[in-house]
Order: sequence, then structure tokens, then C-alpha cells
Amino acid sequence: MHPSSPIPAGCPVHGAQGACPAVGAERFDPFSSGYLDDPAQYLRWAREQQPVFFSEALGYWVVTRYEDVKGVFRNHRDFSPSNALEKLTPPSEEAQAVMASYGYAMNRTLVNEDEPAHMARRRLLLGPFTPEAVREHEPLARRLAREYVDRFIDAGRVDLVEAMLWEVPLTIALHFLGIDEEDMPQLRRYSIAHTVNTWGRPSPDQQLAVAHAVGNFWALAGRILDKMRADPSGPGWMKFGIRMQAEHPDVVTDSYLHSMMMAGIVAAHETTANATANALRLLLEHPSAWREICEDPSLIPNAVEECLRLSGSIIAWRRVALNEVRVGGVDLPVGSRLLIVMTSGNHDEARFADAERLDIHRDNAGEHLSFGYGSHQCMGKNLARLELQVFLEELSRRLPHMRLAGQRFSYVPNISFRGPEHLWVEWDPRDNPERRDPARLGESQPVRIGESTRAASARLLRVAGLRPVAERVLEIELQADDGRPLPRWTPGAHVDLECGETGLTRQYSLCGDPEDPRSLRVAVLHEAEGRGGSHWIHTRLRVGERVRLRGPRNHFAFDESAPAAVFVAGGIGITPIAAMALRARSLGIDYVLHYSGHARAAMAYVDELRALHGERLRLHAADQGARADYARELRDLPRGCAVYACGPQRLLDALQELSAAWPLGTLRVERFQGAAGALDPAKEHAFDVELSDSGQRIRVAADQTLLQALRAANIDLPSDCCEGLCGSCEVRVLEGEVDHRDVVLTPTERARHDKMMSCCSRAASTRLVLEL
Ligand code: FES
Repeated sequence: MHPSSPIPAGCPVHGAQGACPAVGAERFDPFSSGYLDDPAQYLRWAREQQPVFFSEALGYWVVTRYEDVKGVFRNHRDFSPSNALEKLTPPSEEAQAVMASYGYAMNRTLVNEDEPAHMARRRLLLGPFTPEAVREHEPLARRLAREYVDRFIDAGRVDLVEAMLWEVPLTIALHFLGIDEEDMPQLRRYSIAHTVNTWGRPSPDQQLAVAHAVGNFWALAGRILDKMRADPSGPGWMKFGIRMQAEHPDVVTDSYLHSMMMAGIVAAHETTANATANALRLLLEHPSAWREICEDPSLIPNAVEECLRLSGSIIAWRRVALNEVRVGGVDLPVGSRLLIVMTSGNHDEARFADAERLDIHRDNAGEHLSFGYGSHQCMGKNLARLELQVFLEELSRRLPHMRLAGQRFSYVPNISFRGPEHLWVEWDPRDNPERRDPARLGESQPVRIGESTRAASARLLRVAGLRPVAERVLEIELQADDGRPLPRWTPGAHVDLECGETGLTRQYSLCGDPEDPRSLRVAVLHEAEGRGGSHWIHTRLRVGERVRLRGPRNHFAFDESAPAAVFVAGGIGITPIAAMALRARSLGIDYVLHYSGHARAAMAYVDELRALHGERLRLHAADQGARADYARELRDLPRGCAVYACGPQRLLDALQELSAAWPLGTLRVERFQGAAGALDPAKEHAFDVELSDSGQRIRVAADQTLLQALRAANIDLPSDCCEGLCGSCEVRVLEGEVDHRDVVLTPTERARHDKMMSCCSRAASTRLVLEL
């Protein structure tokens, strides 16, 4: 495709061309109100029709889909970040002279330099950004948030940006960098100027004012740095950098520190202020989501990720092509400039189901690209997460009755940073909860950073029905309180159900109809020898009660392209199998359903299954003398047939043995019990991992899992079970042999050594290369 490629004639979303905020590359204008108001929606036509296009107006190739945006970020061989801080509007000669008069000499920073120099510096400067180090800033964030809310809690109406969201992140940023608070007022003015200067379109008159502000910002940063050099002891990233300079003067230079100081102030402060304002606007525009986090603050960490996905504060970033390279099917010449629009990727339906919908329970919300990805991923992401979580928690606890006031939102015109300039909210102070219950003031919950937020994504559902479906088997029907549609699921998916006061979480396969958007069904066997989860469900759960549930997730997916399938269910293992067989039936796939149990009365859903599957159902009830002989039943599998099995361990083990005679990959099983035991450092060896995307090298100690080591190095990875059961912590392996300890991968997948579960599996040798 070339810039002259035909432009789509009409917007598929908005119909008539005139009604659409943007149709076609020729009309793309990142400074238009359409883009500034809602950049992801503005680019929807591109995601759907022309995902990589050339903007004549900007002189940039615009990249809009998730996989392409991530692909450009991860490819530091073909793409350079050298233009990330380049001025979009070249300054006039006069403006240049003004900045030169201040000695302005912004140089390379961690944001815009190439490898290998970048990684060498990043490694040296990373220490204060690890989750452990970042957690130390929580008390300050909480104290400041409380003090600022105190100032306006009785006002009933406030501009949150003005009253809190600008100054608190700035103060935290200054502390993080090790700067005194006294310079705050000037820095505030200067940092906006820096944004306009680099990413905006200032008019010739504005350019001079901006040039003076940027020059002042530069000079101030220099003075502050000099002060620190006199005494670089104590906390703060810049002081840490000065100490690193003493040890590695060739890597961390003077000009580098000066540039980093200036860039760091903007990066650490403005992006967080904007992200918080975006998140609050989004949540207050969705009162049911706001109500949920007010009632259950444990949802906040995942809500933060979902808000960052839907409305992050850095919407686009830049790269330049070092080689001829293909992106999204488009050949780009050497020197092409790219505008990679993360916020568009975050709205890509191919990655996020129902992408336009705010779903604070979304399972993969944390996969957003708002912090970038790869070797240049935002170093301060965990500080931003910490602040967002604390601010949302403090505001939702103290002002749950807050609502958006009528207003028109405005944004500073630029291509990269986005957040409302004002956020007016109002409430009735007479209803402030702390007037009735002052104890609420001191409440708080721990922040979650450097760990998966999936555990904090549970949704509250109402028990709409309880029905015995066999001896000791109870079916639970769950619905949203307000009848809202529930997340879509596919056969084989399971949910995690929290069992009330027992503190236990149990995984149950979904067994209802995936086409029914209003309810989810699971069937639970009362396990006499269990740890209490099923006992609680059978004896304590009542219709009308609310339960917390995570998912659905599917690690036992049904391959709809297979010509034939054999389903094998043992006992309560019928639940995922029943949903799969229903799907096979509706697709017209040739299938047989084997269902075995020790007693007919203990086997759930037999009548329904018989009515649905007729002759295809083979019932093996031992008490009726119909014991299953799978060696015989599965002797002659049709070509290309897949065997799906779920049931007791001994059944799965027997099938595993039989599968030795089948083509690799034929048997697919669902297990709810991990194989990996507790980590025993005495029996393990340490190993090294190299991360191809971020360029890091990490040592995994004998007493550490790979997942723990990656998180400690600031790498974001989802996880859930941490037992090798669920597959959520999977990483791609590029080199090295894996010692697999999960129960997710099939023998075929294990033999390929191209992926592994980072929570339990390790290196068989001493080194692995991972695509991270
Ligand atoms: Fe579940 Fe690793 S977290 S397999």
C-alpha cells in the first residue's frame, strides 16, 4: 500500500461521510477536535479498513492496530526511537535563539536513544523503579491525597485537576526525583510549555512564549541538578543517577543527567495527572462502575488497568524506520516516520472483546499499550499505577456520591499526551460518609503493583437459581444484579468462584449455553474429602445471595476446525464437555460423547444430554454394569479426530497412556490440579534469561520462580493460579530448553520448547531467551 492508495468512500461506523469525525488518510488531523476528543473512535475507520496509512498533513505513517503497534515497539532493530522527542513543529529562528540564550541543549534521554547505549543506561538507572522500591512512595501518596481532599471535601463542587490532580502527582514526582518542593509553581508552568514545544503546534507568537518557558525550565533543571551534586546522598532518582555517574562516568554523563531531569519531571508528573483525570472522567461517566469500586475497593487495581486501556494519558508515540520494513502489510521505506497510536491499539476488537465497553472486570485489561512495550517501556509505570490506585481509592471512599458537573472538556492540543484540562465534579457535602462514620477516613487497602491484577477483577453476581442435577451435584445459575449482559465465553471456559467466608477460590467449568448473555451456569460436586469450597456452596449458598467470580477464561478450547471429536467425561467432568458437545452438534461436527460414572444417580444432566445427543451419547454407569473400556472404545479414532477429556485423575492418566499410540496433540485434557510442587531451592539450579524485546538480562535464583524474577525486573506479566494450571503466565521461548512443570501444555507443545508457564516451569539448562 502507498500513500496514494484509494481512500475508503464512507465510514462504516457513522455511515454518511459528513457525520464521521474522520474518514480516510487525507482527512486525518491529530489537532482536530474529533481526534482530541476521542482519538480511538476517530481512528476506528483506520483499524477496520486501512490500519497503516500515510498522513500527508503530518508526514507520518500512522499505525493503528494492537499487534502492529506492539510489533513496532518490540522491534528495536528496524525502528529507532530517535524522533520521540523531536519537535513536531520546527521552532522559528527567533524561538531557537531564545532557547539558546538559556543554554538549552536537550540531548538524548532514556526515551529517544538507540541500543546498545540505551539499555546500558537503563540497567544502571532502573533500581528506584522496581515494584519494591516504588512501594516506598505509598505513604506519601496517601498522605498527600488525604490532605488535598480535606481542603475541598465540604465545598460540594471542585475542579479536581486544579484542586488535586496536578499538584499531588507533581509533589510525588519531585520527591521521587529527589527535588525540593519549593520550585513547584515554576515547574508547573514550564512542564506544560515543554509538552507544547515538543508535541504541539504552537503559533509563531506562542513559540516565543513557549521558548522562554522551556529555556527557563532547562535552566531551573540545571540549577537543581547542581544543588544535588553538592550532596547526592539520600533518596531520589536523580541523586541515584549522580551516584551511578560516579561509578560509570562514561555511561551516565552530565548532559544526560540534565536532559533526564527535565524529561523526568514531565514524564513522572504530567502523565499521571492526566491519566488520573481520564480515569475519573471515565468512571464517573459510568456510574455503575463507579458504584462498584466505591462498594468494593479491591476492584480498583484492575479498574485502573481498564481505564488506562480505554483512556490512557499517552495516546501515541513515535519511531523512525532504520531499514525497509513491512508493518501491517504495508512496505515502509528507510527513514519513514511512524506515529504509533497506542490508544487505537487499546481499542482493537481483535485484542479486546467488546473493546469500546468499560469493563472493570476485564480479564486482559493489563495487556494495554498505554505504557508502551519492550525496551523503552515506561520505567515509571508502577509509580503511576500506585498513584492512580491511591487517588481512586481515597476519592471513591470519601466522595462516593460525587458526579460529573456539566462541562465541555478541553485538551492541550498535541499528538501524544491527553488529559482534560479541567474536571468539574459536584456532590452534596451533607451526604459525605465521613460525617456519619469518621472511622472511614483511616481505611485503606494495600496497593497492587508488579503483580497481576486479575485477582482484583472479580465481579459480584447474584445467585439466580440453585438446582440439584444429580446426587451431590448442585447447579448454580448466576446473573448480574441489574440484568446487564455478562462476558462472552466459549465451550471449555471456566470461572473462579470465591467461596464466601472460607477464603477459598474454586475453579468451575461453565456448562450452560454460551449464547445466553444473561446468565452463567456451573455445576458443583459436593466433595467429601475437599478443603471446604464445595461444602460451603452446598450448605451455605442461597438464592439471592451475591458471590464474587472471576473470568471466564478458557485454557481448554474446542478446536472447531477438527473434522471429528470424541468427548470423554468422567463424573463432574461432564461440565466443560457438555458445552463442547453442544457446540460440535450445532457446527455439524462428527462426534461421540462418552460419559462415565460410578452410579447413574450421581451423573448430572443425563436426561438433557440424551435428548440432545441421542445415539451419540455413550453412557457408562458402573452401577448398571456399563463400565467404560476406553482402550476398546477409542481404538479406531477417525483421521484428524481430537479427543477432549475431563474427569478424575485416574481417567486422565489412563487416557494419557492410550494417547501414546495416537498422533501427537490428539488428546486434550482439562485439569484442576497442578503438577508442580512447592519450590525446593536445594533441588533447583539458578539460570539466566535474556529478554529479546526489552533487551534485559535477568538471573533467576534457585529459590525464585521465573515469574517472580521477571516482575522484580519491572516486566508486566499476567498470572493467576501460580500452580501451572491456568496458562495465564505463558511466555514465548526463543532459545533454550524448558523444564516444563505445568499441566496446561500438551506433549506436542512441550516438545517444541517455544513457550512455557513462567510461574512454575524452569530452564532445563542454564539459559533461556524469551520474547519479552
Ligand atoms: Fe496459572 Fe502460571 S499463573 S499457569
